[in-house]
Amino acid sequence: MTLSKFADELPIPPILQARWKDASHTYYEVRMTEFKQSLHSELNDTTVWGYEGSYPGPTIEVESGEKVFIKWINDLPDKHFLPIDHTVHGAELNKPEVRTVVHVHGASVESESDGYPDAWFTKGFKQVGPYFRKQIYRYDNYMRAVTLWYHDHTIGISRLNIYAGLAGFYLLRDQRERSLNLPSGRYEVPLIIQDKTFNKDGSLYYPKQPDPPVPELETSIVPEFIGDTILVNGKVWPYLNVEPRKYRFRLLNASNTRFYRLKLDSGQLMYQIATDSGFMQHPIGVKEIMLGVAERAEVIIDFSNLAGKNIIMTNDAPAPFPTGDPTNENTGTVMQFRVTLPLSSVDTSVIPAYMVPFVPVKEESASKIRYLTLNDNMDKYGREFMLLDNKQWDAPITENPKLGATEIWYLINLTTDSHPIHIHLIDFQILDRRNFDVEKYNKEKVIHYTGPAMPPEPQERGGKDTVRANPNQVTRIIMKFGPYTGLYVWHCHIMEHEDYEMMRPFIVIR
Ligand code: C2O
Ligand code: CU
Repeated sequence: MTLSKFADELPIPPILQARWKDASHTYYEVRMTEFKQSLHSELNDTTVWGYEGSYPGPTIEVESGEKVFIKWINDLPDKHFLPIDHTVHGAELNKPEVRTVVHVHGASVESESDGYPDAWFTKGFKQVGPYFRKQIYRYDNYMRAVTLWYHDHTIGISRLNIYAGLAGFYLLRDQRERSLNLPSGRYEVPLIIQDKTFNKDGSLYYPKQPDPPVPELETSIVPEFIGDTILVNGKVWPYLNVEPRKYRFRLLNASNTRFYRLKLDSGQLMYQIATDSGFMQHPIGVKEIMLGVAERAEVIIDFSNLAGKNIIMTNDAPAPFPTGDPTNENTGTVMQFRVTLPLSSVDTSVIPAYMVPFVPVKEESASKIRYLTLNDNMDKYGREFMLLDNKQWDAPITENPKLGATEIWYLINLTTDSHPIHIHLIDFQILDRRNFDVEKYNKEKVIHYTGPAMPPEPQERGGKDTVRANPNQVTRIIMKFGPYTGLYVWHCHIMEHEDYEMMRPFIVIR
């Protein structure tokens, strides 16, 4: 079944309204429910899960430094509509089927409000996970202007909860941002990109078994999920009518496994202004933007002089990345911009020459170096699964940085996939990537480099919270731990990996 492209207009998620706001706090309530929504005009309405009746969830907009409290409320049915594998850690048969917990990705948040995977809760908080601490989460928002996103993080089923629809934008604004005179208001558009597969009746398809199937199990987790249809803001291959002027787009890859390498078929440049953690020092003109799962980039696209033109945003990243299937006409198409609207006023917005200072963290300031492998493994059903530092989720905590300490992590990828590695609480900087001899490492446990250290790509020169750790490479990142202590997680953001052991707790100690 192939749906027509560019049949529906791009929806813009609503802005979440506060329940209560005064000079010192803002309070929100966000209810998770199941409902039907039209994802394409040729499809029957699709059962999805969303926040406040919306998939993707409403955009949460906060000011830097604003104290925000959010009560995340699970009002979902007791039965999941996607297939649960009860052999996966945390999703055992004795656990309630529908559990949720929410993490604001990229935010620096106190441990008890970070959405620890074992801090889940069911409808009405009737049952809660062993690490559940509070109903109302607190966000101090110490970060600068940045594009973040919130999504489900429940142990063992977050791949299903996010696929069902539990994700939305969380935007931080500040004075600096306002002074930059960027395209704003209706010229500032968030784009959450995901891939899905539909059944004929319009319902969401998620595999019950990998290929080949596991005969002993009725339902088995799959090593990756690759959808055949691309959605932006919850619509299949949408179009957006634009004016001949500059627009600011916030790009987010919120897919389960798929990476995107985005381009405009007009061949024109996009001006990247922000990485995962906010504004870069200078904008860079780029022909393509690579986004692993959970990565963000902000770009300015200039449609002036293009009146009357249609421009398609395309994708040519193989899935899984980098050695999977190439894209086709469907998965290679993301959305369309139609420069059909009349210019409503003179475009006085700018692509600023300078945004915020970028201060590289010095290697010498690191007090600890950790060597952490990304490994392949085989479970008792013959399924391949991935590990961090060769350890399962349940193994004792080994990453225990001191509050305020700077550390360098060597991500030594021994697998054949690129893994988007995400660390909670902090932003890091990418030092470099370097090819090494995997075979020799497997035999002798020493890193033998086979090439020079390569600096991060231009599009990665800024703060990051998710980094693509490529096969056959050691990726080095540097970060300072704080300002909170406590329990957090780091993991691969390929949802099928994260749910199946490619996640580890870490603790920041005093
Ligand atoms: Cu986007 Cu641990 O999360
Ligand atoms: Cu992975």
